[in-house]
Amino acid sequence: MRRLLLALLFAIGCGGVAAQDLRPALLLTASQSRDSQDLSGQWTYSKDLYRTGLTDINGWVAKSRMQRYRDINVAAEESRGGAGFYEFDMDRGPQMSIPGAWNAADAELRYYDGLIWFQRKFNAKPVNGGRAFLRFEAVNYRAYVYLNGKEVGRHEGGFTPFVLDVTDALRAGDNRLTVGVDSTHDAQSIPTFITDWDLYGGITRPVRLVYAPATFIDDATLTLRTDGHIAGEVRLQGPKAARQQVTVAIGSLAPATATTDEAGRAAIDIKAPAALERWSPESPKLYDVRFSAAGDTVRDRIGFRTIAVKGGEILLNGKPVFLRGISLHEEEFGPNPARNMTEQAARALLHEVKHGLHGNYVRLSHYPHSETTLRLADEMGLLVWSEIPVYWSVDWENPAVLRKALAMQAETIYRDRNRASVVLWSVGNETPVSEARTRFHSAMADNVRSLDPTRLISAALLVERKDGVTAIHDPLANKLDVLAVNTYAGWYGDDKLESLPDLKWQLPADRPLIFSEFGADALAGYRNDGARKFTEEYQAEYYRKTLAMAGKIPTLRGMSPWVLKDFRSPRREHPVFQNGWNRKGLLSETGVRKEAFEVLAEYYRNRAASQ
Ligand code: GCU
Repeated sequence: MRRLLLALLFAIGCGGVAAQDLRPALLLTASQSRDSQDLSGQWTYSKDLYRTGLTDINGWVAKSRMQRYRDINVAAEESRGGAGFYEFDMDRGPQMSIPGAWNAADAELRYYDGLIWFQRKFNAKPVNGGRAFLRFEAVNYRAYVYLNGKEVGRHEGGFTPFVLDVTDALRAGDNRLTVGVDSTHDAQSIPTFITDWDLYGGITRPVRLVYAPATFIDDATLTLRTDGHIAGEVRLQGPKAARQQVTVAIGSLAPATATTDEAGRAAIDIKAPAALERWSPESPKLYDVRFSAAGDTVRDRIGFRTIAVKGGEILLNGKPVFLRGISLHEEEFGPNPARNMTEQAARALLHEVKHGLHGNYVRLSHYPHSETTLRLADEMGLLVWSEIPVYWSVDWENPAVLRKALAMQAETIYRDRNRASVVLWSVGNETPVSEARTRFHSAMADNVRSLDPTRLISAALLVERKDGVTAIHDPLANKLDVLAVNTYAGWYGDDKLESLPDLKWQLPADRPLIFSEFGADALAGYRNDGARKFTEEYQAEYYRKTLAMAGKIPTLRGMSPWVLKDFRSPRREHPVFQNGWNRKGLLSETGVRKEAFEVLAEYYRNRAASQ
């Protein structure tokens, strides 16, 4: 095991060859610009707690009378009489609105954790010599996908997209799509079954049927490098992928051209035109970019900016920047969220960050948020910290788990690397230091570095206090561009609020630091009760004191307090103050601003004015 892990780490650490193997077979980058059919709407479903419908790795063979993915009309079969019978009927099953988590769809499913089969019947046009794909933006946690009774693919991971080729399985006319969704997490999943957020099982983001020509652009990226060059790549797939002329047009700027090699790849590397406007939170300029080759074209809205570290500074477009941020979960406002992040829901959250808190930055925690949110961050001008849920602890010694983490990172980076807003890739959150853990995270950092050398790497580290001095004692820090710590002095532990401003920190003088988390619970409306914990007054004072402490740290270059909005967590069951909600939000679950909201907004207003 140790030898295998070392071999794997060696392979990954050396020039990213292994990283490339992690490229998903199909990406369909910029698929939102393609001819497609959105399969959102009412889907029928069938619970399968004992996984009877799944023939799985433990050798359980699903009985045909329980195979929900079969392409049969059960009612018609039954009307024919005979000995045969079925113990499911997806056509007459209960319905659920997709996308959205089942936990919010039906009180009976509030705490359901297991397998549920979903069916969507749809009408499709003929493919006519082209290709057809199903693109899932996210299914939590494992997905088993069948089209017209034929298995077309599986995926593990609740927050990243996957694309399945259904050219052969698709019928012109009626189709039956069946998706088995298993929300179960275990010791080898990422995250494991221990988190501080709710389950949200199901098809939580849109599913589209996407059409493309026989030879198509599978991947197309562009980014501005600190050397003043715009670099990127176009990858074709299909019979005519080799030796094709590629044209890349950035708005009305002079187009760039290149030619694909034998493998259908073309590298783009041009000097950035003098007229190119840089993207920044203050002026989030996006260009309409058209990638064309072999008769196929995809479009994407891309901003161009550089991000780098110099000594203790984070440089955006070459200038020092302070990240005025907040952390948030992917959970819409409301008393019964379904993790259905529509554009409207995402805009409501990000609007509070940008215009309520005067922020320029968000930590999208603890997993890749929806593409809708990322595209809005581009449009609204918010810098983004992105992470995958290597959270608290995973099976560090298990090579299969490492490969899962690296694959999840790759899926995230390939999905979001055209997003100007994304500036930081994080490789972990609050994971206790151990040799195996640090090896695991180091492999992740190497993986990120080879997949995307244009962005910064960080991780939300734990701090230690010895003799009254708080410091970072973590070998992983050497692998990171930006240090980040979660600090909860004044909430967890027994520090008095008044002592916070004088807390001593010992930090590297030449490394930029972010407070990736700090926060305190407060129940909206609970006030005038002696400023005790859970009151709005306590939370507000906690912020004042923590910000005063922050003001004394010379290398602090940003913060993302925990958290924008109260969010659901099965770990928070105080019957008066929590009731299944983590109450560290500056906003209640329905968007009510707590007293501390204004404390942070004031602080950011002043910082913005002095920037
Ligand atoms: C941790 C963790 C969060 C959690 C928060 C809290 O730092 O990263 O996921 O919700 O603390 O305790 O509220």
